[in-house]
Amino acid sequence: MPSGKIPAAGPRRGAPRPRVVVARAAARRGGVPSAPPVSGLPAVYPGSFDPITNGHVDIIRRTLRVFPQVIAAVAYNPDKDASLFSAEERVAMIRESLPDVGERLRVDSFTGLLVDYVERIGARVIIRGLRAVSDFEYEFQMTMMNRHLKPAIETVFMMADEQYFYTSSRLIKQVALFGGDVRTLVPEPVAERFAARLKQQSARA
Ligand code: PNS
Repeated sequence: MPSGKIPAAGPRRGAPRPRVVVARAAARRGGVPSAPPVSGLPAVYPGSFDPITNGHVDIIRRTLRVFPQVIAAVAYNPDKDASLFSAEERVAMIRESLPDVGERLRVDSFTGLLVDYVERIGARVIIRGLRAVSDFEYEFQMTMMNRHLKPAIETVFMMADEQYFYTSSRLIKQVALFGGDVRTLVPEPVAERFAARLKQQSARA
């Protein structure tokens, strides 16, 4: 630097920018990070839950380590037209599967867009569980669409324990309804409902 020249005022190159500057810059890019943090708010865990599996239970318990409350929301998935259990049965099975959690778990159901539901109840975080890489494409598209619809709502992914990586409600239903043993894959109240369905089926046959 030539002698006698006063350096320009302002932050040194590489110095961390003040938080307010970062927040304003982020606000200009879309306004999302300028909202208050979500850590005190409940998280919404939506899904078909047809029925709830031990993998879902694991995700709910993990989410409760991070968020004060989880709202498990039974939703209508237009891609999965033929549900085995009614929305009321699915809600009941979720409640019965986590009897120890108390008020920190709320169970609800909704129709319509997920992001509208999340906004309506005053939440800002959607929880989704990730198993294998094969889930990624579907989850990515859904997250981006939800973000497009409501940029202030974030999706947070939780990984279930590795023992649940191959479980899905779809496969479990198939195995159970053909008489296979799913008792280690679903909570007890779900196994009981499967057994009742099988009994009904064989009584009708
Ligand atoms: O357990 P699933 O079936 O994988 O859950 C998918 C679900 C229910 C979360 C998704 O289908 C959904 O959000 N349905 C509500 C309607 C909606 O908002 N659709 C647009 C999603 S980008």
